[in-house]
Amino acid sequence: MRCVPRDLVSIADLDAKEIEAILDHGDRFWPMGDEPIKKLASLRGRTVINLFFENSTRTRTSFELAAKRLSAEAINITSSGSSISKGETLIDTARNLMAMHPDAIVVRHKYGGAAEVIRGSVRPAVAIINAGDGQHEHPTQALLDAATIRRHKGNIDGLEVVIVGDIAHSRVARSNILCLAKLGARIRVCAPWTLLPRGIEDIGGELTRERVRVVTRLEDGLENADVVMMLRVQAERFEGEAPRFPNARELSRTFGLSERTLAYAKPDAIVMHPGPMNRGVEISPQVADGSRAVILQQVSWGVAIRMAVLERAVLGDVPPS
Ligand code: NCD
Repeated sequence: MRCVPRDLVSIADLDAKEIEAILDHGDRFWPMGDEPIKKLASLRGRTVINLFFENSTRTRTSFELAAKRLSAEAINITSSGSSISKGETLIDTARNLMAMHPDAIVVRHKYGGAAEVIRGSVRPAVAIINAGDGQHEHPTQALLDAATIRRHKGNIDGLEVVIVGDIAHSRVARSNILCLAKLGARIRVCAPWTLLPRGIEDIGGELTRERVRVVTRLEDGLENADVVMMLRVQAERFEGEAPRFPNARELSRTFGLSERTLAYAKPDAIVMHPGPMNRGVEISPQVADGSRAVILQQVSWGVAIRMAVLERAVLGDVPPS
């Protein structure tokens, strides 16, 4: 029997049970990181194309490793080395890749909705996975973040999570808000007004209106938080516009996480960052390298969760444990 591929375009498409099933599935791959031989056979003979139109270190490498650890063939395409730089459209690129019969296409693009466009232009037999589309969503980042939080806190339900920084341009923030709200957390988004998108509380309708609170003072955002998630200012997304804050030093002084400001959070709060970090801007080196930071564990979870997402995408439903 041929299975039905499962796309992952947006956290908005998943319910809490589906999210938990992916996290449980990722838990099974986690110990593999410490094993000498990191290879399973479940996607042997399958092909995964990583189509990256935007720069990436963690996401692209971990998708490639995840595919390889499941024995799939992993092909990487970046915009600079492809015909995209010759003016080929996204849809034509997708159709041409389709003609080579891959099992999954992982796509990152600067336009929100790019993964959805590709979804609409390829055969249903190919699973489409969104690896970040503009300022819209980055679903696998939210899943690996949830896996990291679960590892440290046991349960996400009832946790107080604060997301600090450039919320306006962050697909990580949007996917995390949706994912964490579905899993029962309360979320504070904390930034100066100029880095807060209007209506961020409404992105998940009733659910997020109840669970998301906007805070414009760092100390209020951090107060008694269980999880502190810091974000980079994504200046590349608002180049040429009026400045959103006076300068990096000012932003760091008012919204930067330091040992002093971290003291407002719970004593056992964990510190997260999706990377790349701008040390000395949103986070001090002492905190980034300190005992409460789980930033590199997020990266390790990235491989395990992407293995789970790829298996689910290509083989269909998550096999029971
Ligand atoms: C983020 C992204 O690309 O959205 N990084 C990542 O995937 N780990 C965040 C960022 O670029 O700041």
